[in-house]
Amino acid sequence: PVTAVILVAAGSGERLGHGMPKAAVPLGGEPILMHALRGVVASGVSSQVCIVLPAGADGLHELLEEFREELADGGPVLTLVDGGATRAESVRAGLGGLMEGIEAVLVHDAARALTPEYVFHRVVDSLAAGAVAVIPAVPVVDTVKTVASTSGEDAAIAPELVTGTAPREELRSVQTPQGFRLSTLHDAHRAASRFDEAQAAAVTDDAMLVELLGVPVHAVHGSTQSLKITTPLDLIIAEGLLEGPLG
Ligand code: CTP
Ligand code: MG
Repeated sequence: PVTAVILVAAGSGERLGHGMPKAAVPLGGEPILMHALRGVVASGVSSQVCIVLPAGADGLHELLEEFREELADGGPVLTLVDGGATRAESVRAGLGGLMEGIEAVLVHDAARALTPEYVFHRVVDSLAAGAVAVIPAVPVVDTVKTVASTSGEDAAIAPELVTGTAPREELRSVQTPQGFRLSTLHDAHRAASRFDEAQAAAVTDDAMLVELLGVPVHAVHGSTQSLKITTPLDLIIAEGLLEGPLG
């Protein structure tokens, strides 16, 4: 299928705490966004890359204009759009920037700056094989429990009470790029645009919106190198990966 990548980069990066949008934070001397974009382009999966940018990131705009000129003929079309207040709104802004003729779309977090090319290929191959929605996922390494806040006398013992243990072999940590038939992602986001504030706040990826439509979502194996740079610790790990990737 003719494929576009929506690269969402419009977040503020609160948890990284660099006082600038995360996409602009340097990693190995270059903004996180540029690493992510080079990875997308190098994978060769897309006819178009629609980059969703934070407000007022003039420096990024300039770098992207330079990159556009560097792109060889036959490279993807680069489109720049402004993001929204939530990730889902930014994805919707990206959907609004897609060209005619796109059949499939990959939504990728710019914060996953080091996603290996083979992850893009696995997602695209699964779409080509007939998947309507496909996500990269890795096994969960920690034991995961549900908890509830304690109250009254119980609160003097500890702030939370364990309410259950999830079966770890069934759990996956989910990554991007998440791939969809374009019409399916459109339908999912049309429904989500009517969510109230609480429902909107609970949306953490695109696949969950597709799940709500009752459409099957498939999972392919992702990569632990595809970490989402979220905290200062993640940035240290990413710098280390740049020095020399894991074997
Ligand atoms: N994103 C976006 N628009 C938003 C919020 C997030 O495009 N309004 C993007 C981010 O730029 C990032 C991806 O969605 O590439 C995943 O979001 P996250 O890791 O939470 O990034 P931030 O929202 O920037 O970080 P924080 O939540 O710590 O502020
Ligand atoms: Mg965020």
